[in-house]
Amino acid sequence: MSGLLEGKRLLITGVITDASIAFHVARIAQEQGAEVVLTGFGRLSLVERIAKRLPKPAPVIELDVTNTEHLDSLAGKVSEHVDGLDGVVHSIGFAPASCLGNPFLEAPWEDVSTAVHVSTYSFMSLAKAVLPLLAEGSSVVGMDFDARQAWPAYNWMGVAKAGLESVTRYLARELGPQHVRVNLVAAGPVRTMAAKSIPGFKDLEDQWAVRAPLGWKVDDPEPVGKSVCALLSDWLPATTGSMVMVDGGFHAVGM
Ligand SMILES: NC(=O)c1ccc[n+]([C@@H]2O[C@H](COP(=O)([O-])OP(=O)(O)OC[C@H]3O[C@@H](n4cnc5c(N)ncnc54)[C@H](O)[C@@H]3O)[C@@H](O)[C@H]2O)c1
Repeated sequence: MSGLLEGKRLLITGVITDASIAFHVARIAQEQGAEVVLTGFGRLSLVERIAKRLPKPAPVIELDVTNTEHLDSLAGKVSEHVDGLDGVVHSIGFAPASCLGNPFLEAPWEDVSTAVHVSTYSFMSLAKAVLPLLAEGSSVVGMDFDARQAWPAYNWMGVAKAGLESVTRYLARELGPQHVRVNLVAAGPVRTMAAKSIPGFKDLEDQWAVRAPLGWKVDDPEPVGKSVCALLSDWLPATTGSMVMVDGGFHAVGM
């Protein structure tokens, strides 16, 4: 039986450790037949070392999503490895410490603007940078943490995610006529480097497992990785501008 992503050429951002959500998306995508190109931020040799743990080799291109030169040269560099793209994954988030856990009213604009630049605006920048390579039917997927409500500690990252949800809808409008879908996977808590930088994440983890109707395992990135791959496949052809909830059903229930 052929894989779900047989023949798909994918660009996947956001691998930094083998716990990264992006690492598991890349792993499952390769298992399902995709050809994967990765981007890495800053510590390229580390990302290359982590990439060696994937089932198949994957080239790594340097990309800081706030660097205009990196964005301008991205399509050219991707073309050295694949002759086009069928999907792109944005698995990038960052907020300075003042934005997470500290008093919401105390975060300075410079820090908030960094959070929004890296975590929100970059979804558009990345899509724009690779647009010339995207084949008809392509899928652009970003990673969300449900921003329709205010969480403890998540603070300005939550605001950045609310913006990301809106960017997704505007990108869906813009790219729909080119038959490119744009969606988010709104994941429950997964233990990664980014998650560990959120004070109080442990409380959230504990409550998630108890409240989610399907239960939830913070050390199991498989459901999130599989769901991103489903959106990258041809099996959600009429879905765009959506948040796909991959949270064990937590969002649907009260106490
Ligand atoms: N872990 C969770 O509980 C959880 C839940 C929902 C959504 N998410 C989202 O999933 C995505 C991936 O996070 P993760 O949990 O896998 O953590 P992670 O720390 O493994 O990944 C975050 C990635 O962002 C990259 N990054 C930071 N600044 C960048 C920049 N300027 N340019 C390019 N890349 C940059 C880092 O290099 C890293 O690879 C993020 O958008 C995060 O908000 C995570």
